[in-house]
Amino acid sequence: MAILEIKDLKVHYLTKEGPALAVDSINFSVKENKTVGLIGESGCGKTTTARAIMKFVKEPGKIMGGEIIFKGRDILTMSDKELRTLRGAELTIVRQEAQNALNPVMTIGDQIAEVIREHEHIDKRTAWERAENQLDLVGISHHRAKSFPHELSGGMRQRGMIAIATACNPDFIIMDEPITGLDVIVQRQLLTLINDLREKLNLTALFIAHDLSVISETCDDVVVMYAGKIMEKADVVSLYKHPLHPYTQALINSYPSIRGEKKNLVSIPGSPPRLVSPPKGCRFHPRCSFAIDRCREEAPEIREVDGHSVACHIVK
Ligand SMILES: Nc1ncnc2c1ncn2[C@@H]1O[C@H](COP(=O)(O)OP(=O)(O)OP(=O)(O)O)[C@@H](O)[C@H]1O
Ligand SMILES: [Mg+2]
Repeated sequence: MAILEIKDLKVHYLTKEGPALAVDSINFSVKENKTVGLIGESGCGKTTTARAIMKFVKEPGKIMGGEIIFKGRDILTMSDKELRTLRGAELTIVRQEAQNALNPVMTIGDQIAEVIREHEHIDKRTAWERAENQLDLVGISHHRAKSFPHELSGGMRQRGMIAIATACNPDFIIMDEPITGLDVIVQRQLLTLINDLREKLNLTALFIAHDLSVISETCDDVVVMYAGKIMEKADVVSLYKHPLHPYTQALINSYPSIRGEKKNLVSIPGSPPRLVSPPKGCRFHPRCSFAIDRCREEAPEIREVDGHSVACHIVK
């Protein structure tokens, strides 16, 4: 059963030059106990999608339409009170650059305990014990509970954010680039932790990353986004082995494998378009070596091909 369904979601940023279509009519769902990876280059709308799911889009951003159905209810029509109950308890997010999002003047233990007490009526001592357990769960010794964020390494701070996000046993967790910007060894350790937690806590998750190599280790299904649109959706094995969309193929070829397998890396020529005036037709066509006239004129609809959903005219 789908725990989260995103239907025709549209988010714009109202800039001086006009509205930038950061998320333009996207649809996808996440089934219970599954992890969906959301990938695409920088500026494709991944964080905007994540923020929309939390109903956290701020000016100049605006949710222009669509539905976000979480456990049968539309988040976009919920009151602030309903949202406060939901966020942090049932639905949580580890924000991009979360390592820097901890409160610098509170100990890590206090920050975890505070979140627990916001959502559960328990005394301080019990909350503190729960916080210590959370730290052990994410691989930070509970002896570090009284450490301040500046006393922790980047990897530990990220673990701390994961401890906060999972403290109230959420049903759904969004992780926005949780390992980006950390060194390779720390990335490995965090991926192992995330996979362990998925199993231990029965998590359903949306895992955002730039590249497929990370996604292939953590996710069941993948959604590939480009310039505010979904280009391809499929299960992770099929997407990795038989990518259909030229953009997915290019993404796979442009990143080294995290397992260290040797391959020739090919960067994608050009860069994503400005979203105030995206290209006509398929948004990827100016960078696509397979583009035909139709791609320059007509935006491709998503359709089913070999078990994938793909938006491309040339895929047979
Ligand atoms: N506050 C803002 N005002 C105007 N435009 C914005 C704002 N925030 C984001 N955008 C634009 O929206 C688009 C999507 O941004 P978003 O942060 O969602 O991308 P992303 O896929 O998460 O990128 P990254 O991989 O770099 O984190 C980008 O083109 C960005 O420039
Ligand atoms: Mg982002």
